[in-house]
Amino acid sequence: MDTLIKNGTIVTEGKEFLGDIYIRDGIIVEIGENIDKTADEIIDARGKFVLPGGVDAHTHLNIHMGDIVAKDDFYTGTVAAACGGTTSIIDHMGFGPKGCNLHHQLKVYHKYAAGNAVIDYGFHGVIQQVDDSIINEIESMVRDEGISSFKIYLTYDNKVSDEEALKVLIKLKELGAVTTVHCENDGVINYFRNLFVREGKTDPIYHALSRPEESESEAVNRMISLADVAGDAPLYIVHVSCEKSMEHIVKAQRQDKNVMAETCPQYLFLDETMYREKNLQGLKYIMSPPLRKKENQDLLWKDISNNNIQVVATDHCPFDFKGDKQRGKDDFTKCPNGGPGIETRIPLLFSEGVMKGRIDIKKFVTIVSTNPAKIFGLYPKKGTIGVGSDADIIIIDPEKEVTLSKAMLHENVDYTPYEGIKLKGYPVLTMVRGKVVARDNVFVGEKGYGEYLSRKSNIL
Ligand code: URP
Ligand code: ZN
Ligand code: ZN
Repeated sequence: MDTLIKNGTIVTEGKEFLGDIYIRDGIIVEIGENIDKTADEIIDARGKFVLPGGVDAHTHLNIHMGDIVAKDDFYTGTVAAACGGTTSIIDHMGFGPKGCNLHHQLKVYHKYAAGNAVIDYGFHGVIQQVDDSIINEIESMVRDEGISSFKIYLTYDNKVSDEEALKVLIKLKELGAVTTVHCENDGVINYFRNLFVREGKTDPIYHALSRPEESESEAVNRMISLADVAGDAPLYIVHVSCEKSMEHIVKAQRQDKNVMAETCPQYLFLDETMYREKNLQGLKYIMSPPLRKKENQDLLWKDISNNNIQVVATDHCPFDFKGDKQRGKDDFTKCPNGGPGIETRIPLLFSEGVMKGRIDIKKFVTIVSTNPAKIFGLYPKKGTIGVGSDADIIIIDPEKEVTLSKAMLHENVDYTPYEGIKLKGYPVLTMVRGKVVARDNVFVGEKGYGEYLSRKSNIL
């Protein structure tokens, strides 16, 4: 099977040029002007952007949180991803039964994804307790299973202590792997949650007030110090929501520390006032860290422009408003944390970022595709348009106007936080390893087509 994409504006590796791409058996074989070949399919991309497929480095498909399960599984979630221009995900494995080892969750997740995912997928390991046997087990996860990054949490039930975080940082550095961290100060959060519940302050806004910016920035600063103690261990801070955290990150980066930052569309487009929406609508935005004051948004955009934020991922963790989120109607602490976004990341960032002049198209490609692929060991198979790379390609029509709505999206959840936002520019074609999986917002791929991505660590 071969395909020729003609006359598109190709953007990759900091370059933008008019050209054609010839693809055979899922791999990019030739890139150039006026490629004169016949092919099984010829796609005319005149007037459109031809970009490396999106890599979403932070999703939670099918995650089990206590007695509740995220609405998107590896089929519905990756269908939505494909329609929104994402061709690979790296999913954060959820916590397993108390005391389980690392391979336990890996087995569970392979079962969730195999035969279901429609785009390619990898997993971040999750470290829910730290002891000698877990530390020793990390090596085989990295070397044999292709898990070159792990997440630790500084809050929630399976949080790790500073000593445990340090042990993880040291071990992962030794293996050339990346420590990703959920940074929030558990003590601060518990203090305010308990206080607010005692005082009957249970509306959604108290979710945000119980997790002030300082509770995030303190934890960010602490992790930067611990990574330093660990000998400049690679540190990737997930879902950074505010400038107070970025101040620590920027300072560390100026000192050439190996510190990387991810933010998410919700922190660029939504804000704290939404928790006060009428009829409990504020429950839709309960996630951690919470939405912040609007003034953070321009600062986060600036951090993207200045290369201080490397990745924009989604933290897609969808629960229905009806039934699921409404568990928090009398008490915000009962509302499951997380929101949808796997399908809207690329459309939002393209329209509101590129088309509105906040970032240029090269930066857009870098933060949604190339950087996550590089940081997490997928490059150059993914994250670029280059000879020998997988033909994971999206075509965006900058003239296409779309109003985001629950009805036009494929996410298996009963709302989108971006309802009614008018976009200019939208993905019109998504290709994974040479196969078109979505065209004009219609899924045309195949259940189970997605392949597991065994990821490289920096020293393997
Ligand atoms: O509220 C969130 N972010 N839910 C997903 C789990 C996590 O902390 O990333
Ligand atoms: Zn998190
Ligand atoms: Zn998450």
